[in-house]
Amino acid sequence: MGHTVSEPNRTSTLSRRAGMSSGQPIGRLMALALKHPNLVSLAAGFVDNDTLPCETTAAALRRLADQPELLRKALQYDMTAGSGILRANIAEWNYRRFPAGRPDPERMIVTAGSNQFLHLVAEALLDPGDIVLAAAPTYFVFMGTLKGVDARIVGVSSDEFGMSIDALQEQLQRIAAAGDAHRVKLIYTVTDFDNPAGSTLSLERREQLLEVVRRWRAEQGPIHLLSDCAYQELRYEGEDLPPLLALADDASEFVIEAGTFSKSYSPGIRVGWGVVPESLAPTLLEMKSNIDFGSPHFAQVLMNDVLTSGEIDSHLPVIRAGYRVKLDAMLDALDAELGETPDVVWHKPAGGLYVWLTLPEHIDASEGSPLWRCAMEQGVLYVPGYYCYPTEGEPIALNTIRLSFGVQNPAGIRLGIERLAAAIRQVAQTG
Ligand SMILES: Cc1ncc(COP(=O)(O)O)c(C=O)c1O
Repeated sequence: MGHTVSEPNRTSTLSRRAGMSSGQPIGRLMALALKHPNLVSLAAGFVDNDTLPCETTAAALRRLADQPELLRKALQYDMTAGSGILRANIAEWNYRRFPAGRPDPERMIVTAGSNQFLHLVAEALLDPGDIVLAAAPTYFVFMGTLKGVDARIVGVSSDEFGMSIDALQEQLQRIAAAGDAHRVKLIYTVTDFDNPAGSTLSLERREQLLEVVRRWRAEQGPIHLLSDCAYQELRYEGEDLPPLLALADDASEFVIEAGTFSKSYSPGIRVGWGVVPESLAPTLLEMKSNIDFGSPHFAQVLMNDVLTSGEIDSHLPVIRAGYRVKLDAMLDALDAELGETPDVVWHKPAGGLYVWLTLPEHIDASEGSPLWRCAMEQGVLYVPGYYCYPTEGEPIALNTIRLSFGVQNPAGIRLGIERLAAAIRQVAQTG
């Protein structure tokens, strides 16, 4: 598919970039949920409200208040890359199970949530028309960021084990055959318990992916592999898989990793981080200097206390157990309500916050569709899956839905699924 860079609209006061940022569905969905308080929202990817770490955070704040020198420091600006102590502690903690991947803190940047880091990466690597390959479906907020820099996003067929490596190679060959190999800059993967599909990239595919990138770099040119680890800590069963950085010595030359405490501790504190190849660190830091010359230091000092006091390690089993109950409630309700409905498919994720539902092909689940309207009448909100599809590469599956089990309690989840199933049955009958 050709790519055109549009001329600026001379009648608008807005920049071309502002125009390219329009159409993000997330704000609209959140406003809908707020406007209709009786709706059961299975849409928002928020974390569980009841297990937010209020007491441990209050204790950390008291400890901080009792250390006047540290408090004074916390109230001051710090480095653009973020607190050196925090970076070293994140490197230690985040790779506690896989020390082979532990990065030098000099290659780490602390950001206001990992979204800010993802945004920086997009700004640093992509010119208009450059190509990013991602699983179809993929994290729709990052797709918005990519559209905002006028990148082409090529979807790669995926299943419960993540992006298909054969399909990735086919897409790369297709792009090369079209003479666009030089435009390929990035491959993006949400490595564990993907948003939206709940899939986890298998060990075999992790190794194959590294090899594909290694070969492309040798034969075609320098690309990067962006591994988004937002949900890494939210595993409810099975063994942790090694992050890409821990799998090969040369991975640090081309793997970029994004991490966050938003899911594992608190999105309100909003501390995220990124690990970049040594060659990229100065550029990203200069770009960050132009934005804020350092993310909020107070939040970093607070998170450092939460890490070093071990509070996060005590908190994680609590939230994992809570989410596990919610996931089971959603899977049981799906089984009970839709288990017998032909061509309705979902997989059990091993972690994260999402279940991906595929409906019979003729049922359109997009915003404004008969199913959407019927679901709203029944009183349930979901994320239409088509938001999560790149515009190129793979066909957009209108018959898909992202369900989130993070926010509702088990009773709310059951009610939401009952309502959704009623809507699906109604539409399936009339269709
Ligand atoms: C896949 C993925 N990456 C990154 C983020 C960013 O989270 P934050 O900016 O709060 O770190 C999210 C949030 O939902 C996500 O789902």
